[in-house]
Amino acid sequence: MGAARIIDGKAIAAAVRREVAAGAAALQRERGLTPGLAVVLVGENPASQVYVRSKAKATREAGMLSIEHTLPAETPEAELLALIADLNRRGDVHGILVQLPLPKHIDAGKVIEAIDPAKDVDGFHPVNVGRLASGAKALAPCTPTGCLILAKSVRAELAGLEAVVIGRSNIVGKPMAQLLLGESCTVTVAHSRTRDLPGVVRRGDLVVAAVGRPEMVRGSWIKPGAIVIDVGINRVPAADGKTRLVGDVAYAEAAEVAGAITPVPGGVGPMTIACLLKNTLDAAKAKP
Ligand code: GUN
Repeated sequence: MGAARIIDGKAIAAAVRREVAAGAAALQRERGLTPGLAVVLVGENPASQVYVRSKAKATREAGMLSIEHTLPAETPEAELLALIADLNRRGDVHGILVQLPLPKHIDAGKVIEAIDPAKDVDGFHPVNVGRLASGAKALAPCTPTGCLILAKSVRAELAGLEAVVIGRSNIVGKPMAQLLLGESCTVTVAHSRTRDLPGVVRRGDLVVAAVGRPEMVRGSWIKPGAIVIDVGINRVPAADGKTRLVGDVAYAEAAEVAGAITPVPGGVGPMTIACLLKNTLDAAKAKP
């Protein structure tokens, strides 16, 4: 294995969660307020069920109220919208998260827009997307927020760095680019149609890979000393007939060249829930 420092996402996420728990305890002491997070799952997607269960457990561990709604896959869109309207009104609910993907008959955009932007702890509502893009105070999406914390754990000041984000999704790539612009990086967003992707990635002092293609980013693409943040979680066949998790970056190769790199698992993954809890605390704190 090479010289890269391994960025310990598990340890950094644990530190964020301790801070959130302390913040929640302080809010309880000072204002008698318990932050509450409502998580809504529609249907029986097994991966979503796992995520929702771990979100609820982490919420309780941070001393916050967890409200879980599991609805059948056939739930009419109007019924889901009515539930959101109810959660918007509730004084004990400060954060609302509707787990994606939603069943085909439900318009995800419509559902996201129904959430009160002040409770939109995913940061997916157009109001929060716009606030983030215009540099105003916003609830920002959890995964890119976690990536930024990991990058800053290596280097507190990112201003002036060449940052290359690979992937342009609304959940990761686009908000990641906005957050890095906010840190005064020179940001390039690469995607599936980018010409000479290796050449573009080679410019990056900071590379965030969020494409969902196992080990696509090769070690030879990495600028020596770069900070590499790998958002990918891909299950691939392993030699022993089982499966293993790999990122979007060919880890062993990249670790030979990078200055610092996140492992998969144990890098970005644990940060997402930690940032969700932080957004919930911030939403509760911002309540007038
Ligand atoms: N599904 C996959 N990632 C996410 C996420 O960050 N938020 C929600 N609500 N659903 C997801």
